[in-house]
Amino acid sequence: MIFSVGFLVTIFLIRKVHSLVEITNFECESLDRNFSDFEYCRLKSVNRTYKYISLKVHLFQTPVNQIKVNTAIYKRLNGYKPFLYNVTVDGCKFIKNQNSNPVTKFIFGVFKDATNMNHSCPYDHDIIMEKLSAESINFQITKILPFPEGKYMVKMNWFAYDINRAIIRLYITLTNSI
Ligand SMILES: *[C@@H]1O[C@H](CO)[C@@H](O)[C@H](O)[C@H]1NC(C)=O
Ligand SMILES: *[C@@H]1O[C@H](CO)[C@@H](O)[C@H](O)[C@H]1NC(C)=O
Ligand SMILES: *[C@@H]1O[C@H](CO)[C@@H](O)[C@H](O)[C@H]1NC(C)=O
Ligand SMILES: *[C@@H]1O[C@H](CO)[C@@H](O)[C@H](O)[C@H]1NC(C)=O
Repeated sequence: MIFSVGFLVTIFLIRKVHSLVEITNFECESLDRNFSDFEYCRLKSVNRTYKYISLKVHLFQTPVNQIKVNTAIYKRLNGYKPFLYNVTVDGCKFIKNQNSNPVTKFIFGVFKDATNMNHSCPYDHDIIMEKLSAESINFQITKILPFPEGKYMVKMNWFAYDINRAIIRLYITLTNSI
């Protein structure tokens, strides 16, 4: 009986955990400026609680028909250490069948409404992501299990035709409150 009450209380507490995401830095690096380059890549702080990231990348060799995205999460301990996920997905196949890869579906779900990438290949236009706010990242993250508190880096290697063309790094701090 005592066990059951404890169990229920635990469930209740788990359900009440809220994660708060703060974006601390955002970096984009083009590895091949003949292929693609960033016009901008920025973190804007409107005020203490409202921050968002935006980027625009020009594609110089369109149409692009083959994309792979390698996404990994790092947690800062003593330097950034790999944390749970390092997944590679075929972007063109994934867009057509988003249920094929739940982890990528989750990651893509965080930013898909803010980009013009939510269509099938080929890509023959600039790629933009506008005003992805900490709130919307937060909303996506709290839909799944809460991550432990801490500082994280989400790193993405963007490959086209199996050549790494760009690296994007998003730094966030996560605090959980009940
Ligand atoms: C970009 O193109 C120029 C001219 O064709 C070439 O000299 C240069 O090596 C290329 N850069 C890369 C990174 O491929
Ligand atoms: C921050 O800016 C947003 C957007 O302009 C506004 O809705 C919000 O009330 C502001 N928050 C604070 C604490 O000023
Ligand atoms: C994922 O792991 C591979 C192999 O260790 C590494 O080369 C790659 O850089 C990692 N991906 C990211 C985005 O850090
Ligand atoms: C865009 O995203 C929605 C929601 O995930 C999905 O149902 C739709 O098929 C996507 N659109 C395209 C053109 O892929």
